[in-house]
Amino acid sequence: MTTALWSGRLPGGLDPEVQAFTASLAVDRRLLPYDLRATAAHVRMLAAQGILDAELAIRITAALEDVAVGADASDEDVHSAIERELGELGRWVHAGRSRNDQVQTTMRLWVKDACDGLAAGIRALARALLDRAERDGTAVLPGYTHGQRAQPVWLGQHLAAHVWALARDIDRLRAVHRRADACPSGAGALAGSSLPLDPAAVASELGFATVHENTIDAVADRDYCVELVFACAMAFSHLSRIAEELVLWTSAEYGFAELDDAAATGSSMMPQKKNPDAAELVRGRAGTAAGRLAGLLATLKGLPLAYNRDLQEDKRAAFDAADDLDGALRALTVCVRGLTFHPERMAAAAGDGWSVATDVAEAMVRAGVPFREAHSAVAGRVAAGERFASPAPAEAAAARQPPDALALQLSRARAAVDDG
Ligand code: ARG
Repeated sequence: MTTALWSGRLPGGLDPEVQAFTASLAVDRRLLPYDLRATAAHVRMLAAQGILDAELAIRITAALEDVAVGADASDEDVHSAIERELGELGRWVHAGRSRNDQVQTTMRLWVKDACDGLAAGIRALARALLDRAERDGTAVLPGYTHGQRAQPVWLGQHLAAHVWALARDIDRLRAVHRRADACPSGAGALAGSSLPLDPAAVASELGFATVHENTIDAVADRDYCVELVFACAMAFSHLSRIAEELVLWTSAEYGFAELDDAAATGSSMMPQKKNPDAAELVRGRAGTAAGRLAGLLATLKGLPLAYNRDLQEDKRAAFDAADDLDGALRALTVCVRGLTFHPERMAAAAGDGWSVATDVAEAMVRAGVPFREAHSAVAGRVAAGERFASPAPAEAAAARQPPDALALQLSRARAAVDDG
């Protein structure tokens, strides 16, 4: 077992079972490149402040460039591994800092990158939907309420509805990035340090927008992790609605669309099957994403200030949330890009003679009939089994959203996605 950073106080050594349970290296080793940057910034600051010999600082930052943590490492966490990997030089780097502010600095760097990466993934899915909306958007299908055919709408309008939800997800991730963008370095264990540190220099070298205001809050705050997990859960909820429609629309019952072979799976027993497994798993994993948010909130609730080891759980939640969403975005984008729409099946569903009932009533309103009276008259005709031949579904859709309004809608959605 590797010697712990704190072994001077507890020479008895840790039981291997406790070590295995409390260690986080398996989870937090992905923070290595971020921690190396943060450690180099800290070392340079120590030198600039006269706390560390300048020549020594140069040797340490050079050594940091070569630090790698092997698969067989048994350190408590990535921070301990870096200090051990530095060997003799490692004895100098922890002046004026604690793993409590170190892990926060590193994690905030990771979260900012994760927000940007996920936003790019969401943008790719939104663009795939918009490409399809521009190509196939003038097909008419019934819009649904309560799962029942409601009114004819353009396919483009329907697809753009998903895009607006995704645009909000991009905006949300940008907000998470902004709130993660305060540097906790210098907060130490919880109370700062008596050494003449320069937290602003570290923050600026690492590209943070601001420095923490309060050392205790700096090590205790995990809002930005919760917010990332929430942003992922919310996006997942949107993805699951798209996925659910793919499942429905590609069924024989709807027949509105067909998945490309590259986005579907077969059955080991039933030769005819073409299954939307990827969409179903997006839908399923959205449930896990929501549970993860509840789990992290429960972990944080009631924790006394400042650092408690419970906070280590933030990483698993954040990493899994981001990884799952990233995978779902990639798979769903493939599904959307490869879809074949069947406009004739959509038109047949929209042309059932009832989805235009509201339009028939509104024609009566235009002729001077009070709406309630028109509603009642048309309802009576529906109850008697009448199907309305006019207006045609496309005519009804165009009366509510003329083609130029649809085109404007799509270009506004694209601008929202591009700006986000
Ligand atoms: N692995 C720990 C975490 O992620 C790092 C901080 C540990 N600090 C401590 N005082 N034990 O939270």
